[in-house]
Amino acid sequence: MKKNSSSEIWGGRFSEAPEDIMQAVNASIDFDKRLYREDIEGSLSHAAMLARQGVIDDGDAEAICEGLRQIAAEIESGGFEFSSALEDIHMNVEARLREIIGPAAGKLHTARSRNDQVATDFRLWVRNRIDRISAKLEGLMLAHLDQAEWGIDRIMPGFTHLQNAQPVTWAHHMMAYVEMFGRDLSRFGDARSRMNESPLGAAALAGTSFPIDRHVTARDLGFDKPMANSLDAVSDRDFALEFLAAASICGVHLSRLAEELVIWSSPQFGFIAFSDKFSTGSSIMPQKRNPDAAELVRAKAGRLNGSLAALLTVMKGLPLAYSKDMQEDKEQVFDSADTLELAIDAMRGMIADLTPNPERMRAAAAAGYSTATDLADWLVRELSMSFRNAHRATGQLVKMAEDANVELADLSLADMQSVCPGLVEDARRVLTVENSVESRASYGGTAPVQVRSQIKLWRSKLK
Ligand code: ARG
Repeated sequence: MKKNSSSEIWGGRFSEAPEDIMQAVNASIDFDKRLYREDIEGSLSHAAMLARQGVIDDGDAEAICEGLRQIAAEIESGGFEFSSALEDIHMNVEARLREIIGPAAGKLHTARSRNDQVATDFRLWVRNRIDRISAKLEGLMLAHLDQAEWGIDRIMPGFTHLQNAQPVTWAHHMMAYVEMFGRDLSRFGDARSRMNESPLGAAALAGTSFPIDRHVTARDLGFDKPMANSLDAVSDRDFALEFLAAASICGVHLSRLAEELVIWSSPQFGFIAFSDKFSTGSSIMPQKRNPDAAELVRAKAGRLNGSLAALLTVMKGLPLAYSKDMQEDKEQVFDSADTLELAIDAMRGMIADLTPNPERMRAAAAAGYSTATDLADWLVRELSMSFRNAHRATGQLVKMAEDANVELADLSLADMQSVCPGLVEDARRVLTVENSVESRASYGGTAPVQVRSQIKLWRSKLK
């Protein structure tokens, strides 16, 4: 580790260099170098504003901006040497600026502190990632819409308690996830609009005595407005927490879908198959095809939830305004953003790649007396029974069929009438899975007519 004399960074107050271990615990450059682009963007805007307000002269501002652009190019080309002795991205950039343009570099930090600087950088970074994640989520939803269109009348079992409950369609199941990811999308959008205010110019915590224009830098950086309270501006990380919470919830949705893919791809279910592109083999069992990608997406929710819990715990009980504890915010957010993007991309690939097996799904949908509710509904409709009485009578018929080891539709009319005297042949009609699905045409139900209109709606929303 290259060690600078401390006074080089902290000025006159310090005469001794830090312990190695102090530097190790204090430095954030290994991870916050990821903020370099946002850091330079913020500095460019700040320097230009200082010149416009007459706080620094135009020549210095020009030199500063030119130097900053050169630094950005150096970092991008991999030619920049980051130093732990300089702690973080802000000090690394400023120190390099001094090497390039000399003492004028010292004017950049007028009317600014690293406290408002890092809060600004970090908001810009999170905002960018929200935009990227949102685009990826839309791609994932489009992959679901394609599956839904294929499966508009392909019947599969709907489950409760993972027990066969009532028949639904593949399209209906896919569209359930479109709704979930749609809410994730809007959650990220909400977080974005709340976080889109500029902390820049709050300085260390109290504002500044220089005649700065925070509205101009806010506008430059694409923020809606400057944050109204300088203490709040430098000390809250609720925007990062909201991002982590939205990522966690989205991760939980992905995890549930991943779990379904794992179950459906097992030979026992056989509802779907992944191509070789999304399967792995076993090093010992030659016959195996494993859904590793789905399992990993299922597991990533653990990391996402962990990051949220970690930052909530860091922030809890911190007094205003800035405390160094808050430096611990970045790795959690970086990891969550990377993890979520990877998980969404992997899920999108799997959804696009998988091949459903309509015969297996239909056969499973018919098993387990899944249309018993349809028969009970028929008794209510045609014989004016109360639903409770119809439920009891149908239960007796299911028991009778179970004892005879046959389907409900295979019971003789005489057997059925022994339980429900008014029952006629027509009742058998409602026992097919096709009829069951077709009949559930209430708003939001599984009937193709309903699901088709939801697909249309989402197609136009995602355009
Ligand atoms: N690296 C620091 C962080 O991420 C930057 C802000 C430092 N501010 C300070 N007062 N020491 O939080």
